[in-house]
Amino acid sequence: MAPVILLAIESSCDETSASIIQDGEILSNIIYTQTIHEKYGGVVPESASRLHIRHILPVVHEAFLQSGIAKEQLSAIAYTQSPGLIGSLLVGASFAKGMAQALDIPLIAVNHMQAHVLSNLIESPRPNFPFLCLTVSGGHTQIVQCNAPLDMHILGESIDDAAGEAFDKAAKMLGLPYPGGPLVDKHAKNGNPLAYKFAEPLVADLNYSFSGLKTSILYFLQKEKAKDETFIEKNLSDLCASIQYTIIKILLKKLMLASKQTGIKDICIAGGVSANSGLRDAIQSHAARYRWNYFIPKFEYCTDNAAMIAITAYYKYLQGEFSEIAVGASARSTF
Ligand code: KG4
Ligand code: ZN
Repeated sequence: MAPVILLAIESSCDETSASIIQDGEILSNIIYTQTIHEKYGGVVPESASRLHIRHILPVVHEAFLQSGIAKEQLSAIAYTQSPGLIGSLLVGASFAKGMAQALDIPLIAVNHMQAHVLSNLIESPRPNFPFLCLTVSGGHTQIVQCNAPLDMHILGESIDDAAGEAFDKAAKMLGLPYPGGPLVDKHAKNGNPLAYKFAEPLVADLNYSFSGLKTSILYFLQKEKAKDETFIEKNLSDLCASIQYTIIKILLKKLMLASKQTGIKDICIAGGVSANSGLRDAIQSHAARYRWNYFIPKFEYCTDNAAMIAITAYYKYLQGEFSEIAVGASARSTF
């Protein structure tokens, strides 16, 4: 049988990425991260779209070079269809559609959130089905039950801010540049996680909320800064450690409940925040305590990347789930 070779494109936010996959094995995964947004304290949608236009061709070119695959060998082209910034999504979607038409091969539309979950299937060891996945990114926080590669449903999600957003907004209050998540992680390593106590939400079922925490941090900092202008500077490590500790505590509480309710002990994490060292340690220690089999994707598959789009597209290809050219990109999730 001829090999299944796919090109996958990811452009939902501020990473332009392309990946080539052959029979389920990733041959290349090129990621260009837009750094221009740092100085604005968040992603500027119009700049993001323009930078995708500028970088998509060299990124795709490099993905072909590294894989040793020629475009004539492709079986289909996959792209992130939703959710994300609409202008950014449109760049990847238009590129994929144009190339698929020119090569006369099928298109595969992929949901970014499903792809984050399936990033756990890129490399072994892989989780057994059904597994639970805590997807924590800058835009979403979800607990997903995955019964088979293309059979998954959301058990709970954030009703307001995402966990990554909570990290980034807290970092901004501390005067750290965007994206602040990795910097909070770095400073937290030298701090005391129990130095300060912040509000924890009371949300029903398996849902999350992070807006109360954000307000609690804001009021606390305002109060302390009124007493001492240099409060943040002097206590940065303890602040980062305490904020990180609280976010992780909130995340783990509902994940534990989900495992208890479903009886599922194969537990995965995915999304940009799964790069957080405190969250990784917490998952590991919970796994030892509650006998979970836990799975954390390699770092390059945690933050936005096209390899996760490629693995999802591979399963869609096997099931014949192709997409019409008329299917439009969508900012809101269709999952
Ligand atoms: O999945 P992702 O790359 O993009 C979205 O789809 O949103 O996630 C980006 C988010 C940002 O909020 C970033 O601050 C956060 O992941 N992040 C981290 C760490 N690395 C990335 N948050 C905490 N600790 C980290 N080490
Ligand atoms: Zn993402």
